[in-house]
Amino acid sequence: MKVAVVEGDGIGREVIPVAHRVLATVRPDIDFFPVEVGYGKWARTGCACDADDIAALKSADAILFGAITTPPDPGYNSILLQIRKELDLYANVRPVKGEGFDILVVRENTEGLYSGIEWREEDRSCTVRVITVKGSRRIGRYAAGRVRGHGGHLTIGNKANVLKSDVLFREICIEEAIAAGVHWDTAFIDALTLDVLMHPARYDVIVTTNMFGDILSDAAGYLVGGLGLLPSANIGDRHALFEPVHGSAPDIAGTDRANPIAAVRSAAMLLDHAGDHENAVLIGTAIEDVLSLGIRTADMGGVAGTRAFGDALVRALIRRKNS
Ligand code: IPM
Ligand code: MG
Repeated sequence: MKVAVVEGDGIGREVIPVAHRVLATVRPDIDFFPVEVGYGKWARTGCACDADDIAALKSADAILFGAITTPPDPGYNSILLQIRKELDLYANVRPVKGEGFDILVVRENTEGLYSGIEWREEDRSCTVRVITVKGSRRIGRYAAGRVRGHGGHLTIGNKANVLKSDVLFREICIEEAIAAGVHWDTAFIDALTLDVLMHPARYDVIVTTNMFGDILSDAAGYLVGGLGLLPSANIGDRHALFEPVHGSAPDIAGTDRANPIAAVRSAAMLLDHAGDHENAVLIGTAIEDVLSLGIRTADMGGVAGTRAFGDALVRALIRRKNS
């Protein structure tokens, strides 16, 4: 298996080396290769991600991705969004797991408010929210398929009481849920976000449109103690990219304070996606081992640095592997 490693910017450069080490420890057979994209590259070369970088990413079986800082240039478009679009990574899968709840947020990742159809006029600025039958069908089908593996029911998050585009999204997702034979319900995204925070155990798989999924997944971070813990997968029919939900956190970058758990859990999702469930589970167990020893980064109330946490994790993995 060939895995492209994109550290990116900021704390991506600290958490991805830990996730990379973890993967290499459990799967010494993986062939890793680095791809440099992001602000650092833009500052040096004037281009944050070129056609060769996209080709390199496409040549990988999977991509382990850190975070990218958006450069202070008004004409600059997000590299992450460019990669999601060019690789057609239409399903953004964000598990939120804790005591008594296990939620999978499935966010549509290629259209909606992120369609990139925007313009500025003299006294107003417009962003077109495009929801297509094709886009809704494939995300609805993907999410309904995940209900079967995950158990429970599908909740279709929408704002169809206001947005005609979400009338379509809801309708197509319902069709896909019925076709898949899974239990489903629908909820308006504002009330749904509050209810997920108040009663997380009521939810299993939640499918929603791009921007709503962006906001819902950050809000759900509250349930697990912050974004330092939340992993994600960006899945398409041909490519897959795994990244922590958090960004590049320039405020703490370079201080060895970032929590690498989100990145390491993203690496575990990568293995799971590649069919290596055993090592994916092993990584999750090793994280619990380290936490139960009281080794934590600052965001979890501990004193361990990113690197020290990584060292403890690799030790725990080796202990588990040999036992
Ligand atoms: C995310 C991030 C991105 C998004 C940004 C960095 C473009 O917030 O992955 O959730 O909005 O999708
Ligand atoms: Mg976000």
